[in-house]
Amino acid sequence: MIHDSDLVRAFRERWGETAKLFRAPGRVNLIGEFTDYNEGFVMPAALAFSTCVAASKRSDRLLEIHSETFDESRQFNLDDPEPRASHHWSDYVRGVAVILERAGLRLSGANLLIRGEVPIGAGLSSSAAIEVATAAALLGVSGIPLAPMQTAQLCQRAENEFVGIQCGIMDQFVACHGAPGEALMLDCRSLDFRRATLPAGACLVICNTMVQHQLARSEYNQRRADCSAGVRDLARVLPHVIALRDVTLLELEQHRRALDPVVYRRCRHVVAENDRVQQAFPALQRGELDRFGALMRASHDSLRDDFEASCPELDLLVDLASGLPGVYGVRMTGGGFGGCTVNLVQQEHADSFCETIASRYQEATGKEPSLYR
Ligand code: GLA
Repeated sequence: MIHDSDLVRAFRERWGETAKLFRAPGRVNLIGEFTDYNEGFVMPAALAFSTCVAASKRSDRLLEIHSETFDESRQFNLDDPEPRASHHWSDYVRGVAVILERAGLRLSGANLLIRGEVPIGAGLSSSAAIEVATAAALLGVSGIPLAPMQTAQLCQRAENEFVGIQCGIMDQFVACHGAPGEALMLDCRSLDFRRATLPAGACLVICNTMVQHQLARSEYNQRRADCSAGVRDLARVLPHVIALRDVTLLELEQHRRALDPVVYRRCRHVVAENDRVQQAFPALQRGELDRFGALMRASHDSLRDDFEASCPELDLLVDLASGLPGVYGVRMTGGGFGGCTVNLVQQEHADSFCETIASRYQEATGKEPSLYR
C-alpha cells in the first residue's frame, strides 16, 4: 500500500516542493487473451496494487524523473527533436510524454517521483500502470483535461510507437477505468464496456511463477503478426473480414486450407476465445462460477496448444490448481511466457489453496511463488 503522505514527503526531500499525486492500477485478465488487438472482447480487473507518480510543474521544458524501484534518475528535454527509446524503464515515461506532445498536447516540464507496487515482469501490467500514472501526472501539472479513454489510447500508442511492443488497448484501458473488486468487459472495437462484480463467497488468487522468459517480447509481436497474416488470407475469401473479430469458428473451419497451419491455430485461439468471453460475462453476472471456471480452463488449454503462449511453469501451476478443493477455474493471464495464473476460488478454501499451491510449486521447481489475493 502506497501512503500518500510518505510519498509527498519523499518528493519534498528530493525537490523541496509540494507534489500532486497521480496513480494507476495493475490488472489481472480474467478471460480474453490476445483478443484485444483482434478487435475482440476482454475481461480484465484492476488490482489493488498501483503505481503512483508524485509530480510538480517546472517552468522549463525538462522532465526530471526518479524511479524508487530502480533507484535511478533520468532527465529529458521535451524539445529534443529526435527522442529515441533506450530499452530502459524510463522509455515508458518518456514515450508517454513524446506521444502526448505528438497528439498536439503542449506539456509543461515536470519533476516526477515514481513509486510502484505492481510486480514488474509478472504479466500484471506494471507497464500500463506507469504509462497511465505518468500521463495523468503530465496532463495534471500542465492543466490539460483528457477523457480516460483517450488517455488509454495515447498510452497504448506510446507502447506501440515508442517502446516497440505491439500491444492492444486492454491494459491501458483497465488502468484508466478499473476499480478493485470489479471486472470490466470491454468490446475492443466499439470501446463500449460493462462492469460486473464477483459474487460473494468467491475470490481471485493470482499465482506468480516467478519466471519471465526472454522471448516474451519478440514472441508477442510475432503472434500479432500471425494474426494479421490470418486476417489478410481470410479477407481474400471472406471480404467482410476486417479483424479476427469478424470470423466465426464455422467460417474458419471452412477456409482452413487458405491458411498456413500455424496461422490457422493462432486464429482458432482468437476466434474461440472471443466466444468464451461472450459466454463468460453473463455467466459471471448470473453467479454461475462453475461455468465461468470451465471457460477459464478452456482458455488456458487453447493458449497452451493453439496460441503457444504458455510455458512449463504456467502449465504446472494450472495443473496443480485444477485438482484442489474449491477451485472453479484457472488459467494463465496476460502476455504469457511466464508471469502469473489467475485462479477463481471459493473464499472458504482460499487459505488452504494458497498453502498447498505454494508448497507443491516450490517442491517441483525450487522456486517460491508469490501469491496475491
Ligand atoms: C499484454 C498486452 C495486452 C494483451 C495481452 C494478452 O498484456 O499488453 O494488450 O494483448 O498481453 O491478452
